[in-house]
Amino acid sequence: MVGTLRREDVPGTERLVGWVHRRRDLGGLLFVDLRDRSGVVQVSFGPEWSDGESLERARHLGSEDVISVEGEVVLRPEAARNPELATGDVELKARHLELLNPAVTPAIPVFRGPSEELPSEELRLRHRHLDLRRSELQGNLRLRHRLILAVRNYMDGLGFLEIETPILTKPTPEGARDYLVPSRVHPGEFYALPQSPQLYKQVLMTAGYDRYFQIARCFRDEDLRADRQPEFTQIDVEASFIQPDDLFGWVEGLMSTLAVVGEVDAPTPFPRMRYTEAMDRYGSDRPDLRWELEISDWTGALGTADSELLRGAVATGGRLRGLRLPGGGTLSRKEVEGLEVVAKAAGAPGLLWAKRTAEGGSGPLARWMEPEHWSATGAAEGDLLVVAAGPDRVTSPALAAVRAAVIRALKLPKVRAHAWLWVLEFPLFLEEGGRLFPGHHPFVLPHPEDVGRIEGEPTSVRSLAYDLVYNGAEFGSGSIRIHDAGLQRRVLRRLGMADEDIDRKFGFLLEALASGAPPHGGIALGMDRIVKDFVGAPSLRDVIAFPKTTAARALFEGAPTPASPSDLAELRLDVRVGRSE
Ligand code: AMO
Repeated sequence: MVGTLRREDVPGTERLVGWVHRRRDLGGLLFVDLRDRSGVVQVSFGPEWSDGESLERARHLGSEDVISVEGEVVLRPEAARNPELATGDVELKARHLELLNPAVTPAIPVFRGPSEELPSEELRLRHRHLDLRRSELQGNLRLRHRLILAVRNYMDGLGFLEIETPILTKPTPEGARDYLVPSRVHPGEFYALPQSPQLYKQVLMTAGYDRYFQIARCFRDEDLRADRQPEFTQIDVEASFIQPDDLFGWVEGLMSTLAVVGEVDAPTPFPRMRYTEAMDRYGSDRPDLRWELEISDWTGALGTADSELLRGAVATGGRLRGLRLPGGGTLSRKEVEGLEVVAKAAGAPGLLWAKRTAEGGSGPLARWMEPEHWSATGAAEGDLLVVAAGPDRVTSPALAAVRAAVIRALKLPKVRAHAWLWVLEFPLFLEEGGRLFPGHHPFVLPHPEDVGRIEGEPTSVRSLAYDLVYNGAEFGSGSIRIHDAGLQRRVLRRLGMADEDIDRKFGFLLEALASGAPPHGGIALGMDRIVKDFVGAPSLRDVIAFPKTTAARALFEGAPTPASPSDLAELRLDVRVGRSE
């Protein structure tokens, strides 16, 4: 390979193949930087060692031409060595050059230096075949390969079997919309692409494959963000006769193995926190614990202030929660008002604030603040207090967003570089608009102590669901599952499904559960997110070879496309595109 040539290869004859990265013509002498995925090496051409035809061909080489060169590996003269390049001590003095395939002028430049700006992402996605030649992307995909290899070795070492589950299947509810695939042989019927292998892995447990994993492709038609792609990869895991602790141990072992490959720290065991505590202290079920800043509850402390707003919020069952920001007094009024904008964008009606100053205080909250209020919050001179008043369901997301914004604004120091966390006991059900939804998916086991409240107080029911969080990102989600067919039906009914609906959609699962299903549980870890955060890439698109845009388009190959009339005729489908709801 081009990038592996070293001084130990001198003297020697080599034949190298690759792409013309750069060419410099110094009149008599000619230098070509030859590139392949292992790196770059300098190739020189000159009348004394290159044959005439090759020299002439070399003069006409263009960027990205594919060539083969053969010649002597020599040490470069001392002054010409390049310590920046792994191959910088040597060069290949080419005797012979063959042009294997000329390239048209590249639509975007390949391998810009670090000081130059990259072309726009849209342009790079459109010309992905060229962008993929960039060393950063090649490094990311190489790491991805090594991580997947490490997953397979690790899971194999624990006795897990990798089993492939279908891509053409029926809907697996994970909270997103399904991608549907029409069936030609059954006109008018559709397969769904799996949102996850959830149901199959549970059926595999009932079939006795008590340790399963899969590097599984999942498909979800949902609104996309930087940490979501419509098709993505999970490390999907399921095992029988286990407790959450068994799984935590395996996953922690897996993560520390991957962390070695990805050169991050993953000291085990990972800390654990209940969902309610995470929401209380950080306003989020995936708190970023690289920073210590915590939410305080000042309902008691500030609820006595002579403010209608504060008292009113408490009287209607809300709380007064906020953040004390040491040194936050240095933020300008505009910056603090920017935090209010953040809180409002996250759904809060507003954000109260007060700076503690030598004269007393300033800001909208300050006029209610008596000395006992200041001291109850612990605010010292130069501190900023921000307070959100109302029910937790409103204030938690707002305070979480403000926490993240303030960490950036005040450039707060990290207390650790790599923060791992298990979040436990998620609610089994969530309520929105008077309807119940699964907290995760409908197959999660209710907490044994709370099963009796499924019908009466569903939103108070905890579950045996857990998330793995790394630096504020949800790396994985899992749970112990319902293995009793009766309980599964009860939960599905509570979610508002009629029995015939349950049988139509999940009859096969209930049948399997009733046939001697072992207690079981598992997890799925987002492979793309792991690679992204290990390399510190801004987007999942940097760690997926052919990703989609946020509008779910594949710009390079151009997908999706309208179906041709002949395809539609074969499928016996008519397409009429209506307006979206
Ligand atoms: P969940 O839906 O939480 O759980 O997904 C598990 C993990 O997959 C990753 N992930 C995604 N990554 C990229 N793009 C997406 N659109 C996307 N959606 C999810 C996340 C997430 O934590 N069947 C359950 C798992 C189980 O219960 O075992 C499931 O799929 O990192």
